[in-house]
Amino acid sequence: MIKAAVPAMNAGALRRTVDAPSHPAPPAAAARPSDAAGREAQALGAAPAIPAFRFDHLHKTFRSKDGGDVVALQDVHFEVARGEFVTVVGPSGCGKSTLLRILAGLDFASRGHVEVGGREHTGPSRDIGVVFQSPVLLPWRSILDNVLVPAQIQGRDPKVSRERAMHFLQLVGLAGFETKYPNELSGGMQQRVGIARALVNDPLLLLMDEPFGALDAMTRESMNVELLKLRERTGATIMLVTHSIPEAVFLGDRVAVMSPRPGRVTQLIEVDLPARTLDVINTERFGAYVSGIRSNLNASGGLD
Ligand SMILES: Nc1ncnc2c1ncn2[C@@H]1O[C@H](COP(=O)(O)OP(=O)(O)OP(=O)(O)O)[C@@H](O)[C@H]1O
Ligand SMILES: [Mg+2]
Repeated sequence: MIKAAVPAMNAGALRRTVDAPSHPAPPAAAARPSDAAGREAQALGAAPAIPAFRFDHLHKTFRSKDGGDVVALQDVHFEVARGEFVTVVGPSGCGKSTLLRILAGLDFASRGHVEVGGREHTGPSRDIGVVFQSPVLLPWRSILDNVLVPAQIQGRDPKVSRERAMHFLQLVGLAGFETKYPNELSGGMQQRVGIARALVNDPLLLLMDEPFGALDAMTRESMNVELLKLRERTGATIMLVTHSIPEAVFLGDRVAVMSPRPGRVTQLIEVDLPARTLDVINTERFGAYVSGIRSNLNASGGLD
């Protein structure tokens, strides 16, 4: 059993330890950092921190074309602190994309609420950037003009937006490629354009749905490292959905583990690693997190 501490950037100065799982299927009601932070803040006479977002007993049922109901999400309930990186892992069809789409304001819950920045969430917002599995770039637009699409939709100042787009292209390692076209870039580079595009409106919240799923293993690893650097520089809160347990552990301050459909969050695991460099992947500690999550998924039938 390993002890996992809340990373220093979560919920301010909060220090709390929890047992990282070595046994499958602990209860869903894992403690939330902002709950504990709130109690601590109240004890000190300060206002409790407002989480970046919060799922409040969320349910989602789809009515399928044949008239049957598909329960995609069941009682999803957790919150994420500002600046936190949460990863979501679970079997195919368990509702990961549905959860992300609801948070993006692209779909709605059947029951329950979503709060973003302490307010009821009602639809898409320019404070939320979304990166999908495929970047879907416009082939007739240059890389710079692709990154500028959201800023143009928002009617933002063209000069300021251009400077921002150049800044983010540099941040994702694509300085010098702004006048190229999508078909002149590799898959990994195109995906980085998608990330720069999601950042151009300076979102407080970055949502990523299997952003590296189509990349080869080496490119994926270096994109993971780049993403962590980017997060450090922007301070954005990030929720990233992945099928890869090691990727979820490597990137996440916390990992939300989902059960097969109807998707519930069965575990919220705080990940405490000595460093977020690729060397850590070969450590016993990293392996313990990965195998703990794998046995949880196995026990819930998620790896059948
Ligand atoms: N628009 C829709 N209409 C009907 N059913 C839907 C719709 N969108 C999703 N579903 C169903 O909801 C469930 C969850 O789908 P979702 O796409 O969220 O899963 P997922 O965890 O992202 O899967 P994957 O890992 O394969 O991407 C699935 O059973 C899916 O068939
Ligand atoms: Mg999906």
